[in-house]
Amino acid sequence: TFIIRSQSGGNLVNLVVVSNRVSRASANEPMTGGLAAALLPVVEKSGAIWVGSSGRLREGAQKEPFAEIEALGAGALAMLDLPAAHYEGYYEGFANSALWPALHSRTDLIRTTQDNYQSYREVNSFFARALLKFRKPDTAFWIQDYHFLALGAELRALGVTHPIGFFLHTPWPTRDIFGGVPHHRELVEAMLAYDLIGFQTDGDRDNFLSYVEADLGLEVSGGTVQSRYGAARCAVFPIGIDPAKFAAFAAKSSSHPDVSRLRRSLNGEKLAIGVDRVDYSKGLVNRIEAFDRMLTAQPQLKRSVSLLQIATLSRGNIEAYGDLQNQLAKLVSDVNGRHGEVDWTPIRYLNKGFSQTVLAGLYRTAQVGVVTPLHDGMNLVAKEYVAAQNPVDPGVLVLSKFAGAANELDTALLVNPNDIDGMARTIATALSMPLLERRMRWEAMMTKLRAGTIQEWFSDFVDALDRAHALNDTAAND
Ligand code: G6P
Repeated sequence: TFIIRSQSGGNLVNLVVVSNRVSRASANEPMTGGLAAALLPVVEKSGAIWVGSSGRLREGAQKEPFAEIEALGAGALAMLDLPAAHYEGYYEGFANSALWPALHSRTDLIRTTQDNYQSYREVNSFFARALLKFRKPDTAFWIQDYHFLALGAELRALGVTHPIGFFLHTPWPTRDIFGGVPHHRELVEAMLAYDLIGFQTDGDRDNFLSYVEADLGLEVSGGTVQSRYGAARCAVFPIGIDPAKFAAFAAKSSSHPDVSRLRRSLNGEKLAIGVDRVDYSKGLVNRIEAFDRMLTAQPQLKRSVSLLQIATLSRGNIEAYGDLQNQLAKLVSDVNGRHGEVDWTPIRYLNKGFSQTVLAGLYRTAQVGVVTPLHDGMNLVAKEYVAAQNPVDPGVLVLSKFAGAANELDTALLVNPNDIDGMARTIATALSMPLLERRMRWEAMMTKLRAGTIQEWFSDFVDALDRAHALNDTAAND
């Protein structure tokens, strides 16, 4: 029953999708993290098996990996209990304290150990063993994100010759920065076991290829790397959303209590909205400083606009994240203390998540969406904000030029998040933009969103994986 048909009309494949975090939340439940929320609706429809961590740990050596399996749409969700001895080292110690900071060009925040790296490799090999359970003759594996750079190589070491693809949801930094990750060489060498490596932008793919060429001394031609594993094709697949679904959510949820209460509380005042995980890559401090700067420079804006910042807490056991949570709480209270009035609070700061349906309604209530990461693979909030707007009176997106989404959404107001004054001015410009200009910019962005949906991203990747593997097969048989 685990069958999807690739768009090329070619083979029927059993697709196995792997990501650290999985989700079974419906659109009406709160979600955290872009990846799992974005994948759920497409994976569900595809009939794939989605394998990830259950969030539960098991002590001691496991002879057989334990997976709880439940139906998910036309396919299934398999949630693995991970080895207790290695989970922390893998998730906090290496994936999120060595790879995540480096991938977001923050090597100054790398804090890791040899043991953490060992645990990362152990969990990658644990997943590989678990995946053998789901292998059928025509299975294709699609591995997601930086938690599993070495999973393809582990599968190959177990004798798996099936198609294995990998997609990176984050940026890939320049060569010298990736070189700051302990064991960077082994990791990239392991990645070359994939038939297909997908990136969000041309810049990410080019950075990766220049590392492979210059640091590993391997031959790269036409985006394909030759290594001892054969050919690894590197290509760009910008992830999208389902814009029609978001528009429908936004229209439908205007009467939801959270949305109608927000609207009533504004009393005609304008609203800017930000929605992020509390993460140093998201540029939250800069954004709040820019809002502060705008109110100082243009005091007439006081009482006529406020900022709703939804900031879900994440990875709180890691020092850099705990520090940022404290810094933001202090900064927000400082700005509110200086600019606030008895009946007006400049920043509404919420450390909780909302469902996609409610979020869509909140986006539509806001005249300005502020998405200002210092580095971001794509940033789906930017796309969701646009899709949720009212077509006859759309809001304005203020978008960092360092988000992958800026490549497509180039009619947003693009900002440099390091230029606080520039951002302050741009938010003010967004607030007073005439309807005609707002409509033109919004239409152009919607055209892009409709041209690159999440459904297309999914089938384009699976198709390309099919083709990349077929080429490797032919070469092996030559
Ligand atoms: C980013 C990563 C995902 C991750 C998500 C949430 O979007 O690319 O792989 O799942 O953040 O982070 P968390 O650590 O809570 O899973």
